[in-house]
Amino acid sequence: MLAVGTAVIGSLQFGYNTGVINAPQSIIESFYNETWTGRFSEPISHTTLTALWSLSVAIFSVGGMIGSFSVGIIADRCGRRNSMLMANVLAFIAAVFMGFSKLAASFEMLIIGRFIVGLYSGLCTSFVPMYIEEISPTSLRGALGTLHQLGVVVGILMAQIFGIESIMGSASLWPLLLGFTVLPAALQCCLLPVCPESPRYLLINCNEESKARSILVKLRGSDEVSDDMQEMKEESQQMMRERKVTIPELFRSPVYRQPILVAIVLQLSQQLSGINAVFYYSTGIFERAGVAQPVYATIGAGVVNTVFTVVSLFVVERVGRRPLHLTGLMGMAVSAVFLTVAMALLDQLSWMSYVSMAAIFSFVAFFEVGPGPIPWFIVSELFSQGPRPAAVAVAGFCNWSANFLVGMCFQYVEQLCGPYVFIIFAALLLSFFVFTYFKVPETKGRTFDEISAGFRQSAGQGADKYSAPEEFNTLRGDDPDL
Ligand code: GLC
Repeated sequence: MLAVGTAVIGSLQFGYNTGVINAPQSIIESFYNETWTGRFSEPISHTTLTALWSLSVAIFSVGGMIGSFSVGIIADRCGRRNSMLMANVLAFIAAVFMGFSKLAASFEMLIIGRFIVGLYSGLCTSFVPMYIEEISPTSLRGALGTLHQLGVVVGILMAQIFGIESIMGSASLWPLLLGFTVLPAALQCCLLPVCPESPRYLLINCNEESKARSILVKLRGSDEVSDDMQEMKEESQQMMRERKVTIPELFRSPVYRQPILVAIVLQLSQQLSGINAVFYYSTGIFERAGVAQPVYATIGAGVVNTVFTVVSLFVVERVGRRPLHLTGLMGMAVSAVFLTVAMALLDQLSWMSYVSMAAIFSFVAFFEVGPGPIPWFIVSELFSQGPRPAAVAVAGFCNWSANFLVGMCFQYVEQLCGPYVFIIFAALLLSFFVFTYFKVPETKGRTFDEISAGFRQSAGQGADKYSAPEEFNTLRGDDPDL
């Protein structure tokens, strides 16, 4: 719990910085205006202000793309735990840039800070799930993996609450709100040195068997770790038979093509579900949906978000990844349809504002049942130790790119489509449902080696035209309900 709890401080940082710029938007915009007026003796134009604000929001995801993509190189060289530790340097630098931007009368500093904290968050979204998956016992991988998402949602909720004007979302305190990121970073730096390195990394990448064993004994709280050691050794032997896996290799090799496709589409299903249209722009959406207290409704969405992540945490090992992901996608699609109908009828029926609010809450709730937590940790499950860092980097990059796309385009598309904008997400959600149904295997209770053996087998059989039904079964996993 100490190791996982310390790691998810990184997830909390990602969530916090995702949510933090939502509430104080107008106050920080006034600071941009004052700074501009101070420099050029005229107020900032509306277009320049919008452009500067969009840049401040979206540059976070650009940092995220670069950060997540760099993971492949760092994780194998420095180890999982030390990589997380080093990444905190970025959080400190970012906090300084953002926290002192007002004092220095420089919005450029805030924008640079957002970029750096994006780099840091990109590293976190890849390192944290990878570390957790590698140290967890097979039977708890899903539940502990979901703690990454729990860290994210708690971070978002904290940011929403701290951002209220009477707390830190005021004209004088917003630099503290943004600089707050320094505290979790300091806490993580104190705790990480007493957390263990991933034993899987020590054994498979560094060949340090006795160290790996003693860490496993501590992690499992039992001297009987021979099953775990055996399983890792088998994976290690398997890895020696493979060539070193680079990113291009993931796409070229028939063994990895299928799992990397699954990993990428799952990331897209998380972001193109439209969830961040809600988390970046919910206040505006609630306003247009006729909700009287949009800021509090936004916090309500944050609470629903957190509660349902906890629900997922408790059921993911019992129900499995596939059924939860499928339920989440379908529930979100239905909620999106309800939201569209409610927004379209708002002019005729004023009580439709309640339907809109309920639809947004259920959209968020279904997201956290599956599409929120599962894509983050399943990538580590789909790959063995060799290709894992490269796969996590590619998946993270796709996730952040889609995040950027939604963040940048949502407002423009909404202007074009009006109340019908969520229909686009409903259509995408349905297509992700179909993909998941046919292509995503169940990983619950299977070792990394068994999962990748399933893919190897299906890749081998893919060449044999008579083997389709067998491949189909392998891909669907062994859940009798499916
Ligand atoms: C996931 C997404 C993130 C989103 C969050 C909402 O972690 O990756 O982009 O903001 O869920 O809970």
